[in-house]
This record gives sequence, structure tokens and C-alpha cells, in this order.
Amino acid sequence: MTVTSVPELFIYPDRAALNRAAADEFIRCANEAIRARGRFTVALSGGSTPRELFAELASEPYRSRVDWSRVHFYWGDERAVPPDSPESNYRMADETLLSHVPVLPENVHRFLAEEDPGVAAAEYERTLRDSFGDALPRLDLVLLGLGTNGHTASLFPHTLALDEKTRWVVAVWVPELNTSRLTLTAPVLNHAATIIFLVAGRDKAHVVEQVLHGPYVPQDLPAQFIHPDDGKLLWLLDQDAAGELK
Ligand code: 6PG
Repeated sequence: MTVTSVPELFIYPDRAALNRAAADEFIRCANEAIRARGRFTVALSGGSTPRELFAELASEPYRSRVDWSRVHFYWGDERAVPPDSPESNYRMADETLLSHVPVLPENVHRFLAEEDPGVAAAEYERTLRDSFGDALPRLDLVLLGLGTNGHTASLFPHTLALDEKTRWVVAVWVPELNTSRLTLTAPVLNHAATIIFLVAGRDKAHVVEQVLHGPYVPQDLPAQFIHPDDGKLLWLLDQDAAGELK
């Protein structure tokens, strides 16, 4: 079956409607994967946007719509901080979702981001190999956010992570943040069955238009590297984030 990788764009009147739509798509992906393969593998995004989505998934009616014991959680990226840091993407997901639903601890695959970044990246690649074998991992769902500078996951403009074609996970120094980040690389992200960009807020309106309709300059706008090689690409936006779309 040829699956189009032309971005499918959905715009919602407000944040609540956006979160419900994203939760519906998450549940759809989960139940399809569990039916087909007995498990659902999802890489979560970090930052602030997905907080409300995770809280939505942890509450009814969504909470009861998936067998959480069959869900395997990964992360698209992580900050180089311990899991109890306020900066940790793992901690955010744990606070808003994982501690509220009956996931199996062995199915929560966080980055060991408290370790040296290079070590943590290599260890996470091993985690992926343990889960998916030695072929390029095909995650059922990758959830991504979008930074105002066009970054996604921790693929930041003009960093070495953008050109990585063989490693699945890299540690990358991000000059603009003056810190290291851990990230899945574009080949892994693009091999997912479904990729969702979840973007909200007026501050993202300009970069959304640039990424979707501007010149193809992925070194400047790394989110432009994201186009599934055989899967679905959904952009779920609220009205504010879609405000500059032509
Ligand atoms: C992270 C994220 C990152 C995020 C964007 C948008 O670790 O911060 O994975 O890619 O999705 O920076 O962040 P906001 O949702 O906070 O705007």
C-alpha cells in the first residue's frame, strides 16, 4: 500500500480541540498497532506543547480507550539532565501521563540522560536495537513539536545532528542553548508509520508558514527534513499557529 507522505494539515479552533484531535489520533494509532502487532511503540516529544495532550490521554474518555500495558514509550529527544530535573522531557511525561496510566515500567524506555551525553546516546541506540532489532526502527508513532527557529526533536539549525545518516541517536552540542541535547536522527524519525507535528500558539505561526510553504532550507529549518519514507505525516495546529498560513 503506498502511503502518501504529503503533509496532511488539520487546523483546530482552539487548544482544547487540538488536544482532543491529537488524543484521538494517538488512540487510533495505538489500537491499530496493538491489533496488528500486539504492541504500540511511540516516541514522545518534549517541551511544553504536549503537556496538555498527555494530561488529556491520562483522563477519561481517553484513558480507558487503550491497553496501556501494550504501549512502549520512547522519546524523540531529551535534555542532558537527570530524570528528576524540571528540564527533563521524561519527567514531564511521567508527571502528566505515565504516572496516571497502568504502563509497565519495563516498557518505558527513557534516555539515561544523567550520563555523559555520548554514552547516553550510544546506550539509547542499544535500547532501540533491543526493541526493534538491527534494522532501522519503525516506530508506530512519532510525536514532534516545532521550535520558533524551526527545530524539531533536538535537530537544531546548523548542527551536526542534521547530517547524520547512519547513527540512530546522537548527542549534539547546541550553541544557541549552550548545552548538549540527545536526539533521534532524521532517518529514524522519518521511518515511523505516523508522524504528528503538534503545534500551538501565535508565536509559532511564522515558522509554520516558513516550514510548510517557504523555501526548502532544512539546515535553517530542520523540521523540513521530516517527511516519512513510508508513512503518514500529520500537522495538527490550533488556529493561532496556523495564523500565517497562506
Ligand atoms: C524539546 C522538544 C522540542 C520541542 C520544541 C517546541 O525537547 O524541547 O522535543 O523539540 O518540541 O522546542 O517546544 P514547545 O512545545 O515548548 O514550544
